[in-house]
Amino acid sequence: MRRKIVAGNWKMNGNRQFAKKLVEDLSSVAGELKDSVEIVIAPPFILMADAVQNKTSDLKLASQNVSNFDNGAFTGETSADMLAEFGCQYSIIGHSERRALFGDLDGVVANKVAKSLEKGISPILCVGETLEERDAEKTLDVIRGQLDIALKDLNEQQLKQVVVAYEPVWAIGTGKTATPEQAQSVHAFIRNEVAVKSQLIANAMPIIYGGSVKARNAKELFAMADIDGGLIGGASLKFEEFSEICKAIG
Ligand code: PGA
Repeated sequence: MRRKIVAGNWKMNGNRQFAKKLVEDLSSVAGELKDSVEIVIAPPFILMADAVQNKTSDLKLASQNVSNFDNGAFTGETSADMLAEFGCQYSIIGHSERRALFGDLDGVVANKVAKSLEKGISPILCVGETLEERDAEKTLDVIRGQLDIALKDLNEQQLKQVVVAYEPVWAIGTGKTATPEQAQSVHAFIRNEVAVKSQLIANAMPIIYGGSVKARNAKELFAMADIDGGLIGGASLKFEEFSEICKAIG
């Protein structure tokens, strides 16, 4: 059985009080569900210390980004080393908002994947097509290109640590979810692409879906053979809703 992951990407939301409460509440859900799903939160960097102080070890921590540099004169950046010190197990890399708004193009994404792996942090590598690309029937080409560049220099030991998140850009924050069948077919494609490098690693790799996942549609998405959980934006800010999504696994 593959590892299941539900990760909450808070984006630029919340404050210290919000973080304390949500992290405390989610820690107990993470404890209850730990045999079926790994629950991960990705708070803004500045709330990470609050998250660490108030969570139990059952609730895992992710960053929303990581620097592609080690250290030095890089104003505003946060290194993989710093994240590792906070016990960050995952780093969301190549989110479409980073790609579109902050210049995280494929080469930068590949560097960030490498930097996080160097420090023992598992990348949650985001890939996904825009609506224009889907309409032009370029979805699979786009996904292949994004995967190729991000994964090409990894050895098997490194590839094993990677989680892929399929996030169609047109589904993020829009309320438009990919149908379970649409998502499944891309997830199966991603697994096949990884299988070209190693069938064993592909079989074990968690591939999670993101884009308007809510309590009402999570179960049918998670029921698909190659969907191993979710990367949740808006709905991860609401305790009840996010817990329901986590419970929709298995
Ligand atoms: P959403 O965001 O759930 O609000 O659509 C998903 C994401 O951006 O990871």
